[in-house]
Amino acid sequence: MEQESSQSSVTILADTVIRNIGQLVTIAQQPIAGATGPLQIINHAALAVHRGIITWIGSDDESEPFFQSDTADSTPNITLIDAEGAVITPGFVDSHTHLVFAGDRAEEFHLRRSGVSYGELLAQGRGILTTMKATREADADTLIELASERLNTIRTHGTTTVEIKTGYGLNMAAEEACLSVINHLGQQEATIHRHTHNELRIVPTFLGAHSVPPEFRDQRATYVDMVIEEMLPAFVGLARFCDVFCEREAFTLEESRRILTRAKELGYQLKIHADQLSPSGGSRLAAELGATSADHLDHADDSDLDALREAGVVATLLPGCSHTLRTAYPSARRLIDRGLHVALATDFNPGTSYCENMQMMLELAMSSMGMTLEEALTAATINGARALALQDQTGSIEVGKQCELTFWSIRDYHEIGYHFGVNLVRSILVIR
Ligand code: NIG
Ligand code: FE
Repeated sequence: MEQESSQSSVTILADTVIRNIGQLVTIAQQPIAGATGPLQIINHAALAVHRGIITWIGSDDESEPFFQSDTADSTPNITLIDAEGAVITPGFVDSHTHLVFAGDRAEEFHLRRSGVSYGELLAQGRGILTTMKATREADADTLIELASERLNTIRTHGTTTVEIKTGYGLNMAAEEACLSVINHLGQQEATIHRHTHNELRIVPTFLGAHSVPPEFRDQRATYVDMVIEEMLPAFVGLARFCDVFCEREAFTLEESRRILTRAKELGYQLKIHADQLSPSGGSRLAAELGATSADHLDHADDSDLDALREAGVVATLLPGCSHTLRTAYPSARRLIDRGLHVALATDFNPGTSYCENMQMMLELAMSSMGMTLEEALTAATINGARALALQDQTGSIEVGKQCELTFWSIRDYHEIGYHFGVNLVRSILVIR
């Protein structure tokens, strides 16, 4: 239904109305009446939802009951939520995580602190392969339990959509087991968390090409063939995206091209770990194949960035990695000034970014990547949604989008990044 500035004669369908919102940070991509600034903020706002879809946004003063439930009932059945002056933003979209794994790498973390590099550890058969061993040894229940705890941490820090990659199984059976765990987590969200209105949307990604497993160390071509001929066809429908770690220590440009080309033919959408530790050519490949996102980009040069922009590939930055590996942060400023859509994600994983908290990523992006608060919030919401091709459904608070909100325990969104190292989120609200 069309929204009008004078509401008195209009009725809007609603089953839930949220009132007394201190600041509604919509991050709308279209101007909204009464909203101001680059984030399209409405102070003292209200919002209506019908069957999980936002039907009205406006000033609280204009929200005196003109809403109508769709029951023929004379007493309208509308749930009223008092936001108690909270700041509300779209839920964070964490578009890059490696959340399904067992074990930890605390020892390797401290070894790296004493000077051993991430690449050296990987070349010694540690790093990703340490986690692969622990993951292969774990049963499904253990993996589900570990992942569920992590999802709960993610939820309490304000994220509503989480992409989850496989990549610690690295053979047919173990990759399939990890994908089943990811899909199980999605169902678990719907069954356990839907009625409590804090259900996370889970997006599964197949990353069989994360590392060559030790048993194929001397026959890497055989492993690549296995990914292409056996795993990719078997996992259609279980994973939405296919990702590849295109890197000196992982998969070559040519191997990555073969895997992603086949994945595209089979209907997967594409992602690439590109130019993280060295200039791998991954960004160019992402542009060439029309990937949805290219992630990391620490070593991407200007022509790589131009290729990404021209192809409409989202550039995903992962500040948790630079923080953990103590490497130079890529400049978000440079990417934004070149016209790219920049997304921020946690890259939650046991090696290079053991952090579930998107607020921390905003803090790092602002302190070390040259992002403004407004850019960081945009990157963590609507651009995260773009990085998952979900921008029509989530990532901003607009009429027609899903109700996936984060309620903050602050009075002004400018406290984000300023008051750091603590959880400023009160809860998420997801209505399906
Ligand atoms: O995004 N770069 C490859 N994958 C992860 C690291 C995974 C790991 O170290 O376990 C990343 O940084
Ligand atoms: Fe990653």
